[in-house]
Formats: sequence, structure tokens, C-alpha cells
Amino acid sequence: MGGSNFGLAAACSFVAVAAVLGSLAPAAAASPEQGKRLAQSHCARCHAIEKAGDSPLTIAPPFRQLHERYAVETLEEALAEGIVTGHPDMPEFQFSASEVGDFIAFLKTLE
Ligand code: HEC
Repeated sequence: MGGSNFGLAAACSFVAVAAVLGSLAPAAAASPEQGKRLAQSHCARCHAIEKAGDSPLTIAPPFRQLHERYAVETLEEALAEGIVTGHPDMPEFQFSASEVGDFIAFLKTLE
């Protein structure tokens, strides 16, 4: 009886480890440094992308405030499909899937 219980416990912890590794893998692949470079080249002329400071364009929200409005993950879809805020000052962007991951990872460093 003891033996079969041990086997079950071992099988369960294997599943748990696999689940954790599976959910961490994409996040580990994303690079906040790369995301910051994207922000610097595409967004920084209007948005503040640092932990402090005002946006160059006053009406553009500093990126560190985005997470106060919504979970930054909700931007994933918008970034992949092309953000359209309906504001004429903001051009439409379309990021690749890996760029989106990098960018979200960068936004999380600002929280
Ligand atoms: C030419 C200036 C400009 C650039 C470049 C720019 N933005 Fe914006 N962005 C704005 C302005 C202005 C607003 C405010 C729009 C509004 O509130 O109507 C805004 C708002 C936003 C919002 C908030 C939308 C919302 O509804 O909460 C996000 C997210 C955003 N920008 C992301 C980005 C990203 C990501 C980049 C770079 C890939 C970028 N922006 C580049 C001007 C810009």
C-alpha cells in the first residue's frame, strides 16, 4: 500500500512541475531589454517610457501608468493586431508575436 501511494505522489509532482515549466517557458523567452528598445524607437517620442518623468507629448499616458488602467496583458492582442486608440496623434502599430512578448515584459518592469 505504501509503495503505490509513493508512486502516485511522484506522478502528481511530475505533472505539477511540467505545468509550472510549461507556463514559465514563454515568459522566460521574452526580453524586457528588447521590449524597451522597441518602446524607445517606436513610442518614446510621445510616451514617457521610464519609471519617472513626463511624456514628451503631454496627452500621451506614461507607460508606467498603463497598468493602473488595465492589466498590461490586455494590450497583447491590441499590439498584435495593431493599436488604434482613435487618437489622430498616435500612428497605428503592429508588433510581431515575439515583439509583443518583449514589450509586455518591459511594461511589467515599470509596475
Ligand atoms: C505620435 C505620438 C505617439 C506615439 C509615437 C505613440 N503613441 Fe501611444 N498614445 C499617444 C496619444 C496622444 C495617446 C492618448 C490617446 C487618447 O487618450 O486618446 C496614446 C495612448 C496610448 C495608449 C493608451 C490607450 C488607451 O486607450 O488607454 C497605449 C496603450 C499606447 N498609446 C501605446 C503606444 C505604444 C505601444 C506605442 C509604441 C509602439 C505608442 N503608443 C506610440 C501618442 C503616441
